Amino acid sequence: MPEDRSAAPVGLLGAGTIGGGWAATYLVRRRPVLVVDPAASALDRVTAYLDTVWPSVRRTVPDAPASVPADLLRLVPIEDLGEVGLVHENVPESLDAKQEAYRGVEAVVAPHVPILSSSGGLMPTQLQACMDHPERLVVAHPQSPVYALALVEVLVGKSTAPDVVSAVLAHLTALGKRPVLLHREMPGYLTNRLTFAMLREAVHLLAEGVVDARGIEDAVVHGITPRFLIGGPLTSLALAGGPDGMRGAMRSFASTIEEWWSDLGTPHLDDDVRARLVAAADEILGGRSISEVLAARDAAVVDALSLHRPTEQPGGAGA
Ligand SMILES: NC(=O)c1ccc[n+]([C@@H]2O[C@H](COP(=O)([O-])OP(=O)(O)OC[C@H]3O[C@@H](n4cnc5c(N)ncnc54)[C@H](O)[C@@H]3O)[C@@H](O)[C@H]2O)c1
Repeated sequence: MPEDRSAAPVGLLGAGTIGGGWAATYLVRRRPVLVVDPAASALDRVTAYLDTVWPSVRRTVPDAPASVPADLLRLVPIEDLGEVGLVHENVPESLDAKQEAYRGVEAVVAPHVPILSSSGGLMPTQLQACMDHPERLVVAHPQSPVYALALVEVLVGKSTAPDVVSAVLAHLTALGKRPVLLHREMPGYLTNRLTFAMLREAVHLLAEGVVDARGIEDAVVHGITPRFLIGGPLTSLALAGGPDGMRGAMRSFASTIEEWWSDLGTPHLDDDVRARLVAAADEILGGRSISEVLAARDAAVVDALSLHRPTEQPGGAGA
């Protein structure tokens, strides 16, 4: 980003769940947003999403606009993206769809404007392979709800320029995000790998009949999650180690941990297991619609963030 475009509009390719979340993130900070999306209903959908979530969105920053600043949001043809300061690509998770979107945007956006992909698992080196200016492509994978959760996983491809990475990290930090730069590309990145590791064991325990669906949900919601408000799995292990922390944990638990690791399951999502998962979700959701539960979850996430007390000292890494 050699030229200062920090007040320029942000371009969003794709205005589904994630594009809508980025729109909320910028609009609540009064930064103009230009949306490109071929769906006929795109503007109605993103507007409806913003209206629904705005009570939560406006709690994420001080002095937020009381209602959605609709005058700062426009659906435009791709040719109108020429003046944007950066682009978030949020099109469906397919290499072809993303590469087609890059071809369109590179035809109109100056070469130094960074393109941030929201991809949840595609390799940046593959994403940038078709680009005229691959050095500007960075994966910036947000968490849903994007406007509330600070973590953004950042991955770079073989052709990404170091100054673009620095500029993107600085931009995300200034936006109140907490970027985590992975040191190499890996399918599923970081959060999905961690999440899927727990999911794998949950499915194994369910399939083996060790516990029912409600028990799995309770273990995570009432046991594991509240502890994670102050630290991740490494902090949890250190805290379990007594006054010596991780040193004590290694002395006491290392062999047990290895023994239990070797016992973890590798379930297969065959027809029977799939049917069990569908039945489990039906039981847990209890007739509530997905959008209803999503709205409740997003509001609860914003509530929970007021209890969020990471253990690191002020001045540590991140936003
Ligand atoms: N849904 C999540 O929880 C989540 C979380 C993090 C990252 N992601 C990633 O974000 C990306 C978007 O996911 P989503 O859930 O918002 O998808 P979505 O299906 O809700 O929205 C995708 C939007 O892109 C539009 N689109 C398709 N082709 C386009 C093009 N060429 N130009 C512009 N718009 C185009 C579609 O019309 C649609 O509105 C994916 O890569 C996904 O893996 C999703």
